[in-house]
Amino acid sequence: MAALLLPLTILSLVTAGIVAVHNVSISLLDSAVARGAVCLDGTPPAYAYSPGFGDGVDNWHVFLQGGGWCHNVDNCLDRTRDPKGSSAKLMTEQNGVVSFGGMLDANSTLNPDFYNWHVFKIFYCDGSSLMSDVEDVDPKHNLTYRGARIYDAMMDELLRIGMGNAKNALLSGTSAGGLATTLHCDKFQSLFHNTTKVKCVSDSGFFVHGEHFMGADWREAYFFSVISTHGLTNMLPTSCTSKFSSTLCLFPENLVPDIQTPLFLIESAFDKYQISNNVFSPSDASPRWINCTSNLIFCNWSEIKIMKDTHS
Ligand SMILES: *[C@@H]1O[C@H](CO)[C@@H](O)[C@H](O)[C@H]1NC(C)=O
Ligand SMILES: *[C@@H]1O[C@H](CO)[C@@H](O)[C@H](O)[C@H]1NC(C)=O
Ligand SMILES: *[C@@H]1O[C@H](CO)[C@@H](O)[C@H](O)[C@H]1NC(C)=O
Ligand SMILES: *[C@@H]1O[C@H](CO)[C@@H](O)[C@H](O)[C@H]1NC(C)=O
Ligand SMILES: *[C@@H]1O[C@H](CO)[C@@H](O)[C@H](O)[C@H]1NC(C)=O
Ligand SMILES: *[C@@H]1O[C@H](CO)[C@@H](O)[C@H](O)[C@H]1NC(C)=O
Repeated sequence: MAALLLPLTILSLVTAGIVAVHNVSISLLDSAVARGAVCLDGTPPAYAYSPGFGDGVDNWHVFLQGGGWCHNVDNCLDRTRDPKGSSAKLMTEQNGVVSFGGMLDANSTLNPDFYNWHVFKIFYCDGSSLMSDVEDVDPKHNLTYRGARIYDAMMDELLRIGMGNAKNALLSGTSAGGLATTLHCDKFQSLFHNTTKVKCVSDSGFFVHGEHFMGADWREAYFFSVISTHGLTNMLPTSCTSKFSSTLCLFPENLVPDIQTPLFLIESAFDKYQISNNVFSPSDASPRWINCTSNLIFCNWSEIKIMKDTHS
């Protein structure tokens, strides 16, 4: 299992810098609206699908887009004004088209392992890593918290178009989509017969609690706000919540030990988001530190040492 991690890491690094992508049109899953599976602003959820070909026709790659979380009403309301909370905004901003690169690329030179797989990208518009399911629409702000329903509606669509017969199925995601991958991995596997090989890849989604980091309390308080905003207390895996508080159950370190499906973690020791948000809490960070985490040229040796020590 560990053997796959390295090639994937190299693959994503190699392909990240190369711009050779193909455009795929974005679709709205209108059928999801009737079951209340909608974005924060009530618009239908969106996906982009590129069918598999050649000897990839039996293989499916489902990719979960990332993009942080919203942790209070104002913050979620802000999202309704951009693609992270509204598929209407997504369509306008993207002109109805998305480029598939990296592990989603259809070019066999750039993406030799997955280029001819079915690729289904789920756009992120719920702000909860696809975990929320609140029945009532917030009447004052007209906000709808339904990420888990979006996930379920998308899975039904995938089964409808043939994913159930897959020989290989991969669920992957980056950042908040990487956390969503970890949270949904076993549920994803349960969609298939036991003859399907199912695996998950969480890329840059291993948000560490790191008790010795100055940012640990901040991060914990932040996840607590995400959970209360989206009503996630009872939505997180019980295998975790039976042992830890719900806040700690958004940290992958407390989720991963119970996951039954092969799960591959890609996490840079120099993940910019984590270094700038966890090592120091953003509220304490000096302008100097903010400069340094944005560009290494601005760092002195003691700051470089802090970064090197962070994930060791
Ligand atoms: C892909 O879409 C972008 C933006 O919509 C456009 O600029 C670009 O020319 C398209 N590329 C191809 C190969 O069609
Ligand atoms: C709330 O959102 C729905 C769905 O987008 C929309 O039809 C309705 O007009 C909105 N109501 C208010 C009060 O903004
Ligand atoms: C695939 O990528 C390689 C390397 O960038 C490039 O030379 C080749 O033209 C690409 N193939 C297609 C079909 O775009
Ligand atoms: C797969 O499931 C079938 C019954 O549905 C069972 O007979 C078989 O032993 C299972 N195979 C594996 C490898 O678990
Ligand atoms: C941060 O960087 C900018 C240039 O990008 C510079 O003008 C500013 O003085 C720097 N601030 C600190 C505190 O180093
Ligand atoms: C490096 O910068 C930090 C501020 O981020 C400062 O506290 C420290 O003294 C500096 N170290 C050196 C060796 O200049």
